[in-house]
Amino acid sequence: MNTLRGSLLRSTCVVILLIPALAIAQQLKPVELPVPQTTGGMSLMQALRARHSTREFSSRKLPLQVLSNLLWAAFGVNRPESGKRTAPSAMNRQEIEIYVATAEGLYVYNAKGNKLDPVLEQDVRAATGTQSFMGEAPVNLVYVADLAKAGGASLEERALYMGADTGVIAQNVYLFCASEGLGAVVRGSVNRTALAKTMKLRADQKIILAQTVGYPR
Ligand SMILES: Cc1cc2nc3c(=O)[nH]c(=O)nc-3n(C[C@H](O)[C@H](O)[C@H](O)COP(=O)(O)O)c2cc1C
Repeated sequence: MNTLRGSLLRSTCVVILLIPALAIAQQLKPVELPVPQTTGGMSLMQALRARHSTREFSSRKLPLQVLSNLLWAAFGVNRPESGKRTAPSAMNRQEIEIYVATAEGLYVYNAKGNKLDPVLEQDVRAATGTQSFMGEAPVNLVYVADLAKAGGASLEERALYMGADTGVIAQNVYLFCASEGLGAVVRGSVNRTALAKTMKLRADQKIILAQTVGYPR
C-alpha cells in the first residue's frame, strides 16, 4: 500500500514539474523562416560606404522575410553540401549561436533548418544590454559561444577565436543592414552574468556580444 502511495506521489510530482515546461513549449512555437533571398541588395562597395552604427530605432517590426535574410547573411548555411556558413569560424568550429530576442520571445537561430527554435516565451530585449534603445528595437541578437565546441589550445586562444568568430558575424549583419536601410549597433556593454541567467544559459555557454537591429528612427 505504502509502495503504491509512494509511486502515485512520485508520478504526481513528475506531472507537476513537467506542466510549466510543456506549457512554455506549447505557447512559443518554432518559427519556420522563409527561404532567404540571396540576390539583390547594394553592391558590396556601396554597403561598405553606408555601414555605420545606429542607436535610435523605431519599434516597427522586421518582416519575417527580412529577418530570414538577415540571419542568413549573419551566419546562414551558404554551402549546403558541406554545411559551411556565410561567416568563417576558427577551424570551422561554428561555435557561435545567434539568439534572437523579439517582443514575442527568445529564440535561437537554427541555420541548418532555417528556423527559429523557441527558448523562452519572454521579452528579454531590454535585458540584452545597458543602453536604452534595446527595448524599443524589434530585434536584438545575442552572440553566445558554445564552449564545448570552441577550439584553441589555451583559454586565451579560445577567447580570441570566439571574439573573432563573433566579430565577423557582426560585420555581416552591419553590411546587410547597410544594404537594406536598417540600423544596427554591435554591443559589448552587456551585463553578461545577469543576461545569462535571464536567458537560462548553460554554464558552458558564454555571451560574447549583442547587436541591435531595426529601422532607424
Ligand atoms: C566589440 C565592439 C563593442 C562595442 N560595444 C558597443 C556598445 O556597447 N554600445 C554601443 O553603443 N556601441 C558599441 N560599439 C560600437 C562602436 O561604438 C562603434 O562601432 C564606433 O563608435 C564607430 O562607429 P561606427 O560603427 O558608426 O563606425 C561596439 C563596437 C565593437 C566593435
